Amino acid sequence: MTAQEWSAERYVRDAGFVAELGVGVVEWLAPRKGERILDLGCGDGALTLDLVGQGCDVTGVDGSADMIEAAKARGLEAQVMDGQALRFDGDFDAVFSNAALHWMPKPEAVAAGVRKALKPGGRFVGEFGGFGNCAAIVTALVSLARARGLPQELAMPWYFPTETAYAKVLQAAGFEVKRMMLFARPTPVPAGIKGWLEVFRAPLFDAYGEDRADALAEAEALLSPSLRDEVGNWTADYVRLRFEAMLPAK
Ligand code: BEZ
Repeated sequence: MTAQEWSAERYVRDAGFVAELGVGVVEWLAPRKGERILDLGCGDGALTLDLVGQGCDVTGVDGSADMIEAAKARGLEAQVMDGQALRFDGDFDAVFSNAALHWMPKPEAVAAGVRKALKPGGRFVGEFGGFGNCAAIVTALVSLARARGLPQELAMPWYFPTETAYAKVLQAAGFEVKRMMLFARPTPVPAGIKGWLEVFRAPLFDAYGEDRADALAEAEALLSPSLRDEVGNWTADYVRLRFEAMLPAK
């Protein structure tokens, strides 16, 4: 699978809604002043900044160097790190993650790293794509990839687990699941679906080479009946999995 390169500038333009919609999971985190928090998959740091504003001591990590530059430009403490190979040891009161865990196909490695990063009694609170997330989009992308003989993973690289599957991952890493919910969150895409596809599945459309524009147009045509309304507004079929899990105090 081709790794995805992120442009922080393009992300803010076409996907700025991601942080705006992260407010609910911050409420589940209920950050307390002075807490040490790791923001796992912090992106450009929009929500990290919110946590700092609430008086927390926050470190952001993200796999994308461009995103980390953008987070640092906001004055945040942030470093490039693979969420599947975290390098912390008992440093944090809480690990927080919004809209990032579906990009990490080794959830056991993530959960083990989070466990190690937390102090005893620490909590892991997050939200990401759950089972059935972007189902129409995934179907269209897989269909496009198949028609071109491209591998399915290029169309569908994401991890969208059920509640049962993710609870097992957390429990196997030593967490107690305090609460978890899977819910539909239809998400407006004001820039249109082509912009969304170019931001979130760039490697697939890059693989089309000079047929890129045709492939995007075909994806748009496939998705239009289910995601575009009568006046032309696009809404993506997001499904979120939100959870709070805790480590034993000792
Ligand atoms: C999401 O946030 O649900 C998402 C992001 C990228 C691709 C697919 C889904």
